[in-house]
Amino acid sequence: MAVSSNRWSAILLAIFFTTANGIDIFLEWNVALDSTIKPAGLDQPVITINGMFPGPLINATTNDFVHVNVFNNLDEPLLFTWNGIQQRLNSWQDGVSGTNCPILPGTNWTYVFQTKDQIGSFFYFPSINYQKAAGGFGPIRVNNRNVIAVPFLKPEAEFDLLIGDWFYGDYKKRRSMMERSLDINDGGVPNMILMNGKGPYGDPMSKAYESFTVTKGMTYRFRISNVGSAFSFNFRIQNHKMVLVETEGSYTNQITLDSLDVHVGQSYSVLVTADQDDSDYFIVASPKWFNSSASTRLVGLSVLHYSISNSQLTGPLPTGPDPFDLEFSVNQAKSVRWNLTAGAARPNPQGTFNVSNISLTQSFQLHASMGAINGQPRYVVNNVSYLTVETPLKLSDHLVNGSGVYELDRFPTQTVNSEASYGVSVVSGIHKGWIELVFINQLDVIDSWHLDGFGFYVVGFGNGEWTEESRSTYNLYDPIVRATAQVYPRGWTAVYAFLDNPGMWNVRSQLLNNWYLGHEFYVRVFNADPNPAKERPPPENLLLCGIFHDSDVSDMAPAPAPMSGW
Ligand SMILES: *[C@@H]1O[C@H](CO)[C@@H](O)[C@H](O)[C@H]1NC(C)=O
Ligand SMILES: *[C@@H]1O[C@H](CO)[C@@H](O)[C@H](O)[C@H]1NC(C)=O
Ligand SMILES: *[C@@H]1O[C@H](CO)[C@@H](O)[C@H](O)[C@H]1NC(C)=O
Ligand SMILES: *[C@@H]1O[C@H](CO)[C@@H](O)[C@H](O)[C@H]1NC(C)=O
Ligand SMILES: *[C@@H]1O[C@H](CO)[C@@H](O)[C@H](O)[C@H]1NC(C)=O
Ligand SMILES: *[C@@H]1O[C@H](CO)[C@@H](O)[C@H](O)[C@H]1NC(C)=O
Ligand SMILES: *[C@@H]1O[C@H](CO)[C@@H](O)[C@H](O)[C@H]1NC(C)=O
Ligand SMILES: *[C@@H]1O[C@H](CO)[C@@H](O)[C@H](O)[C@H]1NC(C)=O
Repeated sequence: MAVSSNRWSAILLAIFFTTANGIDIFLEWNVALDSTIKPAGLDQPVITINGMFPGPLINATTNDFVHVNVFNNLDEPLLFTWNGIQQRLNSWQDGVSGTNCPILPGTNWTYVFQTKDQIGSFFYFPSINYQKAAGGFGPIRVNNRNVIAVPFLKPEAEFDLLIGDWFYGDYKKRRSMMERSLDINDGGVPNMILMNGKGPYGDPMSKAYESFTVTKGMTYRFRISNVGSAFSFNFRIQNHKMVLVETEGSYTNQITLDSLDVHVGQSYSVLVTADQDDSDYFIVASPKWFNSSASTRLVGLSVLHYSISNSQLTGPLPTGPDPFDLEFSVNQAKSVRWNLTAGAARPNPQGTFNVSNISLTQSFQLHASMGAINGQPRYVVNNVSYLTVETPLKLSDHLVNGSGVYELDRFPTQTVNSEASYGVSVVSGIHKGWIELVFINQLDVIDSWHLDGFGFYVVGFGNGEWTEESRSTYNLYDPIVRATAQVYPRGWTAVYAFLDNPGMWNVRSQLLNNWYLGHEFYVRVFNADPNPAKERPPPENLLLCGIFHDSDVSDMAPAPAPMSGW
């Protein structure tokens, strides 16, 4: 029997759309404080998800819908953010203080977000109340759809490896120390480095160390994220090379490395082939810009274990680059390039999206430093310290056009205020314009900045002051696209982003103290078209809080159009 070609195309189309639209993934998370985990061997509260630290893997594929029903069993409000997931047209699910009311203790709330047009390695973490210092983080994988080739052979297995610095004690005590600005600098030096929540191999106080079992001859993908609060680290595996293949949703030009610098908030995939003698080998993460030689707990240590291992770990730890050798780090950063011919979420080669000849619509020069406000040390951008308000900016946009919550465009995007002050910093990003963000680090730390809602093109790194002439040094040919970029001590990093995603988008330092005490602002990308295909309406389970705490939302007509305020 003949089937009409129309009917066939309908069937094929249906199949195509089923795949292209992704599936629904339902997760239920019970978030709690647990003092039995003792990652440092000491009593302290740790945030677990379903009893796990780190939390469970979110294993999605491009365009899947992830439903996460979060039950907050902490004793304080909670939000999760999905670092690097772009929340296309949907900043309502971004899970930062400017977009969502917190989930109150004893209640639950369901996030629903789509991994729209994305692939890659990411992680999630609690975004408010300094809770990231207590855990609550976990890995996110977004796999390629079957129809789109991955630019390397399928590895034997994949391992998620979350590495981060860690502090002893109760995060609430550290938080209140921060707020009162006690030991703001001293409080910045962590006590340990954990790998997947476990202390270093051989550490007498840790209950366990992390170990990965491999078979000789096979190749493995490690998805490494820096989930810490302060330290960048150098990652390496004794006697093994690694091939860099992906970072935060972009396939890189594949380069072979002895070691890899990973900065706070960043994620990378490397391929490691078990091509050495059957044995055990050290996996090391040592801090950058810090001398850890006197403190073994500040070097993360786990084990690459061959399934038929003839010998124990031996020899000294593999040495990495000098932690103070910034040139090494900058050169490596510049060698992380986009593979222009690889497809990613879509079949188009990544190089189809070309920044070599774009016209910039906006340029922000963002000087990140410390200032004093009413005698309190605070982290400031252009001398403004972000003031976290109870009413989410996005909610106030929707209901009252922002009025009474913030004043649009008061934050200085190029100049530095002559007085340090607090501000609810929200700036307009021009819809479908190209923006240049120049992060200028005036502090003596390796900083790291993140933009929600977009992947940005990392076009340049430099020392000292940025000037317009610095643009002549940019790599506009094959800059990597990612969501978090490091900024070297007293240096600058320049990125470009195409603002095609309307919403209220968080820009933050990924360094927890800096973020908590003011290194943050929002970019509001507005599209006047009310068609929900342009930007999603708020979810049905929208929470109210702050000035809307007692409002009946059904009585309130959403603001018809744009907005402003302060
Ligand atoms: C993740 O999902 C992919 C695609 O459905 C599947 O092949 C893989 O086995 C899953 N991995 C884990 C660890 O669940
Ligand atoms: C809370 O969880 C229940 C299921 O246990 C679910 O039906 C409900 O929608 C959740 N509430 C919210 C606001 O997501
Ligand atoms: C880039 O991706 C292509 C297509 O998948 C692949 O064949 C090629 O080896 C990659 N090039 C580099 C330098 O990684
Ligand atoms: C690190 O400190 C040790 C002493 O703890 C010292 O011997 C070494 O020279 C220092 N290294 C660097 C790079 O400063
Ligand atoms: C990007 O565009 C420029 C012209 O605007 C062109 O010369 C260049 O070849 C393009 N690059 C790629 C990788 O297509
Ligand atoms: C680059 O852009 C300018 C103006 O936007 C345009 O006139 C010119 O033709 C472009 N060049 C290429 C090679 O695309
Ligand atoms: C930033 O504010 C402080 C006062 O807190 C002031 O001393 C300083 O000069 C300001 N910076 C600039 C560049 O104006
Ligand atoms: C919202 O605020 C913006 C900026 O102040 C203003 O241009 C716009 O007219 C306001 N819209 C409404 C409906 O009040």
